[in-house]
Amino acid sequence: MAGKALVGIIMGSKTDLEVLQGAVEVLREFGVEHELRILSAHRTPEKVLEWSQTAEERGLEVLIAGAGSAAALPGVVAAKTVLPVLGVPVASTTLGGVDALLSIVQMPKGVPVGTLAIGKGGAANAALLAVSILAAKRPDLREKLRAWRKKRADEVLKSDAEAQK
Ligand code: RP5
Repeated sequence: MAGKALVGIIMGSKTDLEVLQGAVEVLREFGVEHELRILSAHRTPEKVLEWSQTAEERGLEVLIAGAGSAAALPGVVAAKTVLPVLGVPVASTTLGGVDALLSIVQMPKGVPVGTLAIGKGGAANAALLAVSILAAKRPDLREKLRAWRKKRADEVLKSDAEAQK
């Protein structure tokens, strides 16, 4: 996206992209600039460290990290920055993403990773949380968030009304 990115999205493999697309779609909907990177904690560790430790000076305010399997990436990113890191577990093995979920959620005390649900829904929620964090200092974003929630509520009420016909 053009302009100054506020959210950094990183994932361990291009095979994670479909899931992380859930975050991209939400950020686009809110008009939040973001950058997207594919860097691996075990295949390109130096690149991950460099990206993480320069994130703040490049203007990023929230980081979203998605990974599958042993899913070290979100924790490695969190180890190199004090920016909030939101982790998205990806189902990439026969364990269906529970492996990644447990890995990401069990960061040792002191270096947190806010962990979302497995898959595209978790990625979308990571982006919504990123918007909430950014909205703390951006009233326009806060209003967009309120409107977004109201739209979801209206959809349910519409479905309810149709169900009662
Ligand atoms: C992890 O291993 C990635 O995040 C991905 O979910 C998983 C499998 O990667 P590929 O072998 O498909 O590149 O590092």
